[in-house]
Amino acid sequence: MRVAQRIANLPPYLFAEVDRRIAAKRAAGYDVISLGIGDPDLPTPRYILDALVEAAGVPANHRYPDYYGLAELRRAIARWYEGRFGVVLHPDTEVLPLIGSKEGIAHVALALVDPGDVALVPSPAYPVYEIGTMLAGGEVYHLPLRPGHQFLPDLDAIPQGVLDRARVLWINYPNNPTSAVAGPEFFERVVAFARRHDVIVLHDNAYSEVYYDGYRPGSFLQTAGARDVGVEFHSLSKSYNMTGWRIGMVVGHAAVIEALGRVKTNVDSGIFQAVQYAGIVALTGDQSWIPARNAVYEKRRDLLIDVLQGLGIKVGRPRASLYLWGPVPEGYGSLDFSVKLLDEIAVWVTPGVGFGPHGEGFFRISLTTPDDRVRQAAERLRQLRL
Ligand SMILES: Cc1ncc(COP(=O)(O)O)c(C=O)c1O
Repeated sequence: MRVAQRIANLPPYLFAEVDRRIAAKRAAGYDVISLGIGDPDLPTPRYILDALVEAAGVPANHRYPDYYGLAELRRAIARWYEGRFGVVLHPDTEVLPLIGSKEGIAHVALALVDPGDVALVPSPAYPVYEIGTMLAGGEVYHLPLRPGHQFLPDLDAIPQGVLDRARVLWINYPNNPTSAVAGPEFFERVVAFARRHDVIVLHDNAYSEVYYDGYRPGSFLQTAGARDVGVEFHSLSKSYNMTGWRIGMVVGHAAVIEALGRVKTNVDSGIFQAVQYAGIVALTGDQSWIPARNAVYEKRRDLLIDVLQGLGIKVGRPRASLYLWGPVPEGYGSLDFSVKLLDEIAVWVTPGVGFGPHGEGFFRISLTTPDDRVRQAAERLRQLRL
C-alpha cells in the first residue's frame, strides 16, 4: 500500500521510538528506569475520580456529547481562568474544550495554515506544533531557543521573506523541553510582533500549574491586546494528573476559537460527557493539594540536580514544568549520551534532538517517575563514568 505523501514525510513520533528502545532493553532482561516521558506518576485526586464514577452512571452521558463541550464546562473553564489569572473570558465565544490539548494543537493548523504558509515554531519544542503544520501542508520555520537568550525566540532575527508568509507563531512557557519561563515583558513583545506582522499567536500553557520555589507562571492572555492576536492552549493533564483522561481547552481570540471549532465539528464528536463533569469538578473543586504535589516534583528535581552536578553536568534549576534540561557532556551527541545511559546503567533520558535540531547537545529528564525509582536512578547515575 502507498500512504499519502503528507504522512510519508513525517518523522517517526519521538516517544513511539523511545518506547521501542526501552522495550528492547527490558526484553533483554534489564530493569530500565525511564526518566523520559512527562506523564505524571501520581494518581488523579479521589474527588475527581468520584465525580467521573457518578457521571458515568448517568445514561444521558452515554450519548454523543455536545460539539462545543457542556456549557457548564465552558463556564467552569472561564471561572478558573478568572480565578487563577484574572483573565475574564466569554464562555460561549472564547472557550473551547479539547480532547486533550494535543488534539487542538494538531488541528489548529487545519484552521489557520494553508499550503505555502509558514508557521514559526520554536526548536527545541513539543513536536506536535511542527507535525500539525506539516499535516496541514504548511512550512515550518524554526526559531532557535538558546541558553544565552533564556530559551526565548529572537523574533528580530526572522528574515522578512519568512515574515511575509508567516501565519502563526507558536510559543510555550513554562517550556517543554527547556523548562524556561517567560515574563510579561516577553509576552508584550510577542503581542507587538503579532500586530506588526499579522500573525496569530498560539501559546501553549500546559505547565502553568507545575511550579517551584514560590514562582507561579502567568497566562499569555494577561497581556494587554493578547486576545486580539492569539489563543492559549491549556490542559488538565499535567495540572490535575489527568493525562489519560483526555481533556484540555483553548481560550482567547474568538475568531480562532470559531475556526478551530469548525474543524472539530467535522472530525470529532467531543469529550465523553462523564469526563467533562469530572473536569468541572477538577477546575472548581479543592485546589489546595497542588502545592503538595509540586513539592514532590521539587524534591526529585533537587536530588537529580545534585547528582548531575556531581557528574559535572550543569543543569538549570527550573522554576516550573516537569523537566530538567541539561547539556550532554563534551564529546557526546545527544542520542549517543541517551544510548550510553541506557546501555551502561539502564536509565533512559530523552535526547534533546528529539525536540528539533536545536535540541542537539542537550538531554531532558522528566520528574514524573516515582520517588523510589528516582532514588535508584540517582544511585545509578552516581556510578556513571563519563
Ligand atoms: C508542551 C506540551 N503541550 C501539550 C501537551 C499535550 O498534553 P495533553 O494533550 O495531554 O493536554 C504536552 C504533553 O506532553 C506538552 O508537553
